[in-house]
Amino acid sequence: MPFDFNGKKVLVTGAVKGIGRGVAIALSESGCKVYALSRTKSSLDSLTEEYPNITSIVADLCKWEDTKKKLEKLEVLDGLVNNAGIDGYDYTALECPREYLCKLLDNNLLSAINCSQVVAKKMIEVKIKGTIVNVSSVA
Ligand SMILES: NC(=O)c1ccc[n+]([C@@H]2O[C@H](COP(=O)([O-])OP(=O)(O)OC[C@H]3O[C@@H](n4cnc5c(N)ncnc54)[C@H](OP(=O)(O)O)[C@@H]3O)[C@@H](O)[C@H]2O)c1
Repeated sequence: MPFDFNGKKVLVTGAVKGIGRGVAIALSESGCKVYALSRTKSSLDSLTEEYPNITSIVADLCKWEDTKKKLEKLEVLDGLVNNAGIDGYDYTALECPREYLCKLLDNNLLSAINCSQVVAKKMIEVKIKGTIVNVSSVA
């Protein structure tokens, strides 16, 4: 079934590698205007060199205010894919120390809440029936 995202605008976090990169490219190739967010500028540059229709945003999602400011500058979006995340395999569940749990929550949960707040607020203001997809993990 062909996907048609013509005229849609979607932000994908963690868009330079793995699942996020695949999602960003698939959306772009389906006519969507894609905003690709990641920490590493060089990786974003190589993505946008290959796919010039994709717009890059360099941000560390653990930096709440900085990320918020950058996202507030964007136009109203139709969609958000909260994909960025780190895996939690450095420790077992029984041994994981508080500092590492905080790092996991910061990268994997609070980051998604921050992006969702900014994007959803604008969707609601202009009464867009937008979509927010949260990529999660059994881990
Ligand atoms: N791969 C799997 O088998 C699997 C299974 C279950 C769930 N998942 C979930 O799927 C999502 C993507 O997984 P993946 O394996 O494709 O990941 P990945 O290849 O490790 O890529 C993660 C992406 O997230 C970005 N990122 C991480 N922390 C960030 C932060 N603080 N700020 C901005 N960007 C950040 C990375 O950017 P930089 O490269 O710039 O750091 C990278 O673009 C994750 O949420 C993961 O938990 C994956």
